[in-house]
Amino acid sequence: MSRPEDLLEEARKEISQASSSESLESVRVKYLGRKGLLTGVLRDVGKLPPGDRPRAGAELNRVKIAIQALLDERKTGNDSGAAIPVPGGVDLTLPGRGRFFGQRHPLSQITAEIVSIFYSMGFGVVEGCEVEEEYYNFEALNTPDWHPSRDEHDSFYLAPGILLRTHTSPVQIRIMEKTKPPVRIVAPGRCFRRDAPDASHFTNFHQIEGLYVDRDVSFANLKGTLAEFARRVFGPEREIRFRPHYFPFTEPSAEMDVSCANCGGKGCRTCSGKGWLEILGCGMVHPNVFKYVDIDCEIYNGYAFGMGIERIAMLKYGVNDIRLFYENDIEFLSQF
Ligand code: DAH
Repeated sequence: MSRPEDLLEEARKEISQASSSESLESVRVKYLGRKGLLTGVLRDVGKLPPGDRPRAGAELNRVKIAIQALLDERKTGNDSGAAIPVPGGVDLTLPGRGRFFGQRHPLSQITAEIVSIFYSMGFGVVEGCEVEEEYYNFEALNTPDWHPSRDEHDSFYLAPGILLRTHTSPVQIRIMEKTKPPVRIVAPGRCFRRDAPDASHFTNFHQIEGLYVDRDVSFANLKGTLAEFARRVFGPEREIRFRPHYFPFTEPSAEMDVSCANCGGKGCRTCSGKGWLEILGCGMVHPNVFKYVDIDCEIYNGYAFGMGIERIAMLKYGVNDIRLFYENDIEFLSQF
């Protein structure tokens, strides 16, 4: 039987020479494993005369604890047991630092989604300007002088006759001035109104305008296109309806609602008990608008629509406050 003291000395030497966590592990197995040297000697204690057994057993246990302590010392304290310290104190086995990847803002994502739906139905994409002339923002859109949105209290005027556009509809005029029918476009962009911020209003927001001008365009074409749009943004289980409304630049005009996703149309807090949520304004282009751009309304007609992008995003993603899109809170934004 090997002497316990000799086993401890051999183990101490091998542990200090181990160059990797694998070789350290094989030292452990060699001495302390189930078939290890020390375990074998412990088993032999039973063969000693009964009077010698307690002392020999205690001696072997002391050696076992000492070997385990030497093994623990050589480990780095890292639980994986993988690391042996590298000279210079750098642990090359630690994982590298993560890199922060940004992503598109939810409003940019939903804009791209809406634009691609209309693009797939044959609409081109154009952009207007954020600083606009009163003529394009109101007058050529058949909006009379007395209309409240023309008031300085409701819009941001930069100079007489110049303002931050209050909607994307002026793009209709700009595109029809330059393009002969057929015209089929959508125009996303930023708009501005002097609204006091609350859960559904912000001074700066986004819209997408749509315009289709050709021969024999009907209200049925408008309904079909917008129904397909709603189906693709909100899913096939949502219903739509059109309600008569008034806009100066369309006649007839309507607002389109989608059935509330929260209650399925029964009525709840999200839809104020109505079962429906308004998502856009639309209608057949008013003959007066065609006069401003020299398009003969005896030959051509068309439809137009305009929707708030924040509103669509809020309904689709279940966001209950428009201001969340503008607070730059990474925790909120990274959910999309
Ligand atoms: N410009 C309107 C608004 O901001 C929305 C709108 C309504 C646009 C009807 C249209 C339309 O093109 O036909 O409230």
